[in-house]
Amino acid sequence: MTRWDYSENTPNWISGYSPELPLRDKLGKLVNVEGKDIALTQNATFGSNFVANGLSLKSGDEVILTDREHPGAICAWQERAKKDRIVLKQVPIPTPANDPDQLVELFAGTITSRTRVLAFPHIISSTAVVLPARRLTELAHQHGCLALVDGAQALGQTPVDLQDIGCDAYFASPHKWLLAPPGNGMFYIRRDQREKFWTTLCSFAWDDQTDGMYRFMQYGTGNRSLLTGLDAALDFHFRIGPGRIYKRMRFLADRLRNGKDCRRQNLNRNCGLRNGSGSAHREIRLACGSHARFTTAKRRSIPRLKSCAALPHMHKPSLRRLLLLLPASGIRHQLRKIAPTFPSASATVLPSLADRMTVLERKS
Ligand SMILES: Cc1ncc(COP(=O)(O)O)c(C=O)c1O
Repeated sequence: MTRWDYSENTPNWISGYSPELPLRDKLGKLVNVEGKDIALTQNATFGSNFVANGLSLKSGDEVILTDREHPGAICAWQERAKKDRIVLKQVPIPTPANDPDQLVELFAGTITSRTRVLAFPHIISSTAVVLPARRLTELAHQHGCLALVDGAQALGQTPVDLQDIGCDAYFASPHKWLLAPPGNGMFYIRRDQREKFWTTLCSFAWDDQTDGMYRFMQYGTGNRSLLTGLDAALDFHFRIGPGRIYKRMRFLADRLRNGKDCRRQNLNRNCGLRNGSGSAHREIRLACGSHARFTTAKRRSIPRLKSCAALPHMHKPSLRRLLLLLPASGIRHQLRKIAPTFPSASATVLPSLADRMTVLERKS
């Protein structure tokens, strides 16, 4: 570092002051746009703040969201509502939400002549419902509105083709399903809409109109190792093949959705593992071990359940996965009771899982 003279030919040891085009190109391939159409940010929350703060809106203009937004996707709008008196409307997403026509109708019924924006998650974080992003985008455009999509849970989990969706902006967190290091974000604005968005976080290239989304990457000195990690994560994803990854996830999700029994031996067989509890896959191992403890405790009493050692310490995605593995019957009631004992899983996640269990119960 002491010999770093900032000249063009010296290796770059930081991020935040260079366009990173090869990496943006690589990420662009995954979502079917050019690298210049993408900014590398820190996470989805950055993208959400950039769209909410970058748009010129007047008092009384309406923004339609869902009632299932992650705080990272709604709070910037809430601040805008408080500061500039724009109006937020939240479409109630039904449980279960299996009918795309119904979802589109719910949004359509909320649009008025004052509506300027439809902002919605591609995949809802608490329930995993996939919203019909292309159809909602078409609806927004029919009414002269912008369609802004929160893809935090979609990138790496499901195919994301931004040209096909046609949305005006899309932001995501490659550190989730793409397995990049935390602190990596992706932000896209459609070329013909880009002028509508001011740059929120400004440094020297804040007004650069020559390199697409570069002006949204002006965060000052950053940690280059995060970008190296993103690069490696993308290579890993492409090496396995996005198609294979999505197919595998769909297979596992369908098994769970169909209410198949997930006792240890089945879990092992269906996950292609020799032995789940001895597996190198930490989450499968956790799920197997905790599942055994959970069911034993369940047979006894709820207070006993609270003492299940692994559960409160599991991080949210593992916990969610574990709960989806559990047998449906009787779980709903118990989940409601134990919800307060999970500080990190919060009151919103558990009741929605409980709703899902109710659906499974009805089916079985
Ligand atoms: C749907 C959704 N949107 C936004 C976010 C915020 O993501 P981040 O913390 O990476 O900014 C999350 C995080 O879980 C999410 O699930």
